Amino acid sequence: MKYRHACHAGNFADVVKHVVLVTLLTRLTGKDRPVFYLDTHAGRARYDLGSRDGAAEAARGILRLAGADTRGMPAPIRRYLELVRSFDPANETSLQIYPGSPCIAAALLRPEDHGALCDIEPGEAQLLAREFRGDRRFGVHCRDGFESLAALLPPKEKRGLVLIDPPYEEQLTDLERVASALVGTAERWPQGVLAAWYPIKLAAPIARFHRRLVDAGLKRLLAVELCVHPDDSRAGLNGSGVLLVNPPWKSDGDLRAALPALHAILAPDGGGRWRVDWLAGE
Ligand SMILES: C[S@@+](CC[C@H](N)C(=O)[O-])C[C@H]1O[C@@H](n2cnc3c(N)ncnc32)[C@H](O)[C@@H]1O
Repeated sequence: MKYRHACHAGNFADVVKHVVLVTLLTRLTGKDRPVFYLDTHAGRARYDLGSRDGAAEAARGILRLAGADTRGMPAPIRRYLELVRSFDPANETSLQIYPGSPCIAAALLRPEDHGALCDIEPGEAQLLAREFRGDRRFGVHCRDGFESLAALLPPKEKRGLVLIDPPYEEQLTDLERVASALVGTAERWPQGVLAAWYPIKLAAPIARFHRRLVDAGLKRLLAVELCVHPDDSRAGLNGSGVLLVNPPWKSDGDLRAALPALHAILAPDGGGRWRVDWLAGE
């Protein structure tokens, strides 16, 4: 069966990925010069949490966060929540609409920034194109996201961020494809910030994925992970991570503050773990 992100939108892994996205784009847009954003696996950009598909996982993700007292929380979490709520201002506590990564990026990017949003599924790409019809900063492409890396990078802006977020229908094949994509893109665009999402089910393939990137000589590699179950447990998805190449200055500190706060909310029984660790460089 084809992967459908509508079933997973707003789950704990989306929350972590999107807090990382907010952190990176906030730091990147803190400087004057324009940035370019490439979303290789963008999805439809807006999800209905009220539908039967999306409700169950969101209840343990974004809805848990939306129901928590976040007043003293680190800035990226508060900014993320404020942004999610802005898509559904009528529903302060029981959110119905969840923004995907393209909408989150669009809300943070400035008029002088640009982006490209790719999805290979015609239905998803059509919804994405409809969402961004009036926004001249973005191009929407119905195409293979991995191929877009070679076709669209490096951008004329020189600075920017790539989010690589494939569905991992074949986990080991996708991990291998993502590793090759990161190595190739870092060579082609050394100044670019690269972020790749990955699921954590078993610990061993993730350790191999990290080793492959370190052995390839990538200079600045940060692993950001949050698990809600112990490694190797049979829950299915025990956690997820975002591998960052060349993260912006101070974003590691932002994430070190955000991850324990997120873990306390997303794993209320204290299960699992979090980490923000340099695998190479600093
Ligand atoms: C995990 S979802 C994306 C979620 C989105 N990035 C977000 O955070 O809101 C993965 C998406 O990748 C799309 N997809 C699958 N294979 C692809 C490929 N080779 N190139 C581009 N998109 C692909 C799927 O249609 C799906 O919409």
